[in-house]
Amino acid sequence: ATATRALFMLFGATGDLAKRKLYPSIFNLYKKGYIDNKHFALIGTGRREWSNDKFHDVVFESVKDNAESEDQAKDFASHFYYMSHDVTNPEHYDALSEYANKLDAEYDAQGNRIFYISMAPNFFGTVAKNLKAHNCLSNNGGFNRLIIEKPFGRDYESAEELNNALGKSFNENQVYRIDHYLGKEMVQNIIALRFGNPLIEGMWNNKYIKNVQVTLSEKLGVEERAGYYDGAGALRDMTQNHTMQMLSILTMEEPVSFKDIDVRSEKIRALRSMRIYTPDEARENFVRGQYGKNGDQADYRHEDNVPEDSNTETYVAGKVMFDNQRWANVPFYVRTGKMLADKFTRIDIVFKKPIIDIFAAAGKQSGDLQNNVLTLFVDPVNKVILHLNGKKAGQGMEMQPLDLTHTQSDEEKAATPEPYERLIHDAILGDATNFASWDEVSRAWKFADVIRNVWDTDKPDFPNYTPGSMGPKAADDLLARDGNEWIKK
Ligand code: BG6
Repeated sequence: ATATRALFMLFGATGDLAKRKLYPSIFNLYKKGYIDNKHFALIGTGRREWSNDKFHDVVFESVKDNAESEDQAKDFASHFYYMSHDVTNPEHYDALSEYANKLDAEYDAQGNRIFYISMAPNFFGTVAKNLKAHNCLSNNGGFNRLIIEKPFGRDYESAEELNNALGKSFNENQVYRIDHYLGKEMVQNIIALRFGNPLIEGMWNNKYIKNVQVTLSEKLGVEERAGYYDGAGALRDMTQNHTMQMLSILTMEEPVSFKDIDVRSEKIRALRSMRIYTPDEARENFVRGQYGKNGDQADYRHEDNVPEDSNTETYVAGKVMFDNQRWANVPFYVRTGKMLADKFTRIDIVFKKPIIDIFAAAGKQSGDLQNNVLTLFVDPVNKVILHLNGKKAGQGMEMQPLDLTHTQSDEEKAATPEPYERLIHDAILGDATNFASWDEVSRAWKFADVIRNVWDTDKPDFPNYTPGSMGPKAADDLLARDGNEWIKK
C-alpha cells in the first residue's frame, strides 16, 4: 500500500454517519497502511462544544471493536482534533485555517487536504464558499479535494445552484460526490464482468436482452429519519441517485480505458441517451406507492414525524428507456421501496428465448424453454447466477433449468472493504471513477424532475401496498403490459 499524507477536515464530526461509517472506514485505511500513520490528522467540526478528549472518546468508541489492541485505537484517535464551529460564521473559518496550517506543519502533511462535508445539505454551499474565502485550502503544492455527501440538491435547479456554489471554490475534478452504491463490490463487478468477458459483453445488447430489472428492496420503514425522508420520498432518496448510477454502468459503452475520465464520459453518454419523459409518459411509465398498516406495523402516515396526510412515496417502480443502437426497445425496469418483503439489491438481466424451440417442435419438450437470466446479487450476499436450460438426466431429451452459481467465499467477503472505506481511499488517491460527476447527477435530476412534477400535481391513492409485500399491484401491471414479469416476485 502507498501511504498518503493528508489532513482531513470533517464538517459534521458529531453526526451519526461519522460515528457509524466514517471513523471506522478511516481507521481501516489507517490500519492497513493506506493512510500514512505519522502524517495524518483530522479536524472535526460540529456545533457542539466538545473538547479534544471528548472527541477522542467518541472516535475510540467507534473503532475499538475493530482494533487489534486498545493502544492502536487510542493512537488512531489521538490524530483527531475538534473545533466547535458555526458554519455560517466567517470568523470561524479564519480560526480553522490557522488550526489547519498548524497541524499541517506538525504532521508534515505537505499541504494535502481532504474536506468532507457530512451535514444538512443547505450548508454545503456555504461551507465550500467560506473554505476558499478564508484560506482553508492549502496553496503549497498539496492537493485539495472535497468529498460531499448526498443529497446533491432536491431537483435540477437546486442541484445546479449547489454545483455553482461549489464551483466557486473547487474545480469539478476536485469534487468527489459520494454515492455509496458505487462503493459496493458487486456494483464494481458489473464493469469487470462486462468488459472482461466477451461472452457476456457480446450479448449485452437488444439483440439478445429482453429486459433488465434493477431492484433495491428494503425491509425497514423510515425508522427515525422521517424528518428528512418525508420531504424527499423514494424517488429522490434512491432512484435519482443509486438506481441511475447502476443504470449508467449497465448501459454504458466500453470505456477507452478503466480510468476515471474514460469511465465517466461513457456513463454520461449513456445517461444522455436515457429518454426524458413527457408528463403523460411519466404517468404511464412510473408507479408510486406508500405502505399501509399491517398488524402492529403502523402505516407510513402514522409513523413518528410523518404528517397524517403525507403524500410522500415510499415505493417507486418505473420503466426506463435508452434511445441508442445498443438498447433501443429494451425496457429497464427499476423499483425500490421501504417495508418490502426483504432487504436485498439485485440486477436481473433477462435474455430472449431461442427464436425456434427445436425440442418442442419434436414433441420432446412440454412447456416453454425458460428465459436465460443473469442475476447479479449486490446485497446482502455477493453472488452471480446464470440461469440456463439444460438436459434432464436420463433417457430421451427432456429439458430442465440449469443454474451456474458463483457465491462470494468467506475469504473474499473478508477482503471486501465497506463502501465508505473504499470510496474514501479512492478520494485519497485522487481516483474519481466511483464518484458521481456533475453531468451524471444533473442528467439524473432532469429525468426524475418530470416524474416528481407529475406526482406533485396528481393526487395519489395512498396507501396502496402492504408491508412485507413487494409493492403495489400497479408495478406488476407495468411489466405485464409489455408481456414481462418481475423475475424476483
Ligand atoms: C441511502 C438512503 O442512500 O441508502 C436510505 O438514504 C437507504 O434511505 C440506504 O436505506 C440504503 O443503502 P443500503 O446500502 O443499505 O442498500
